[in-house]
Amino acid sequence: MSRLDSFIARLSAQRELLNWAIGWVAGREGLILEVGLGNGRTYDHLRAGLGADRIYAFDRANNANPLSIPPAGRLVLGEFGDSLQAFAARHPGAAVLVHSDVGLGDPEANARQVTQMSGWLPPLLGRGALLLSDQKLTHPDLLLQPVPVPIPSDRYFVYLKA
Ligand SMILES: C[S@@+](CC[C@H](N)C(=O)[O-])C[C@H]1O[C@@H](n2cnc3c(N)ncnc32)[C@H](O)[C@@H]1O
Repeated sequence: MSRLDSFIARLSAQRELLNWAIGWVAGREGLILEVGLGNGRTYDHLRAGLGADRIYAFDRANNANPLSIPPAGRLVLGEFGDSLQAFAARHPGAAVLVHSDVGLGDPEANARQVTQMSGWLPPLLGRGALLLSDQKLTHPDLLLQPVPVPIPSDRYFVYLKA
């Protein structure tokens, strides 16, 4: 597989899963959290499907494409260790969907962050809420689900909050 094939496969998998999640969320109440705004591509996809009003995006800095910047008050800047915990204190269990796309290039730093995210994400989620994560997380309240669309294994991990 060429790098171009691999890049397309990665983005196609992301789109398939987000499309499925958009259908899952329709008709359910709660906030939608985009953890790792980055360029804003996946934020933009969620916004196209679900509207901007109930989506909050998180990143340490705003590096999004100008067309994909959340409206005022919906972009939370800062380190996840601060921003996610502060948000959970203000809106405990308020999210019906969290999309977490936060992988780091450095394997050691990534492993540390995976452990931290496993603790930071669950307090944001309501009971039965959906978490899509690019990293495999471990927490007793995160119930690993079969991936509902045909995408490469280990590309995404799907959890429901107990
Ligand atoms: C892979 S990118 C997200 C890409 C995005 N989903 C998109 O479609 O454009 C990951 C983002 O997570 C952010 N990030 C990673 N670790 C972070 C941390 N500890 N605190 C705040 N932001 C972090 C990075 O700044 C980066 O923008």
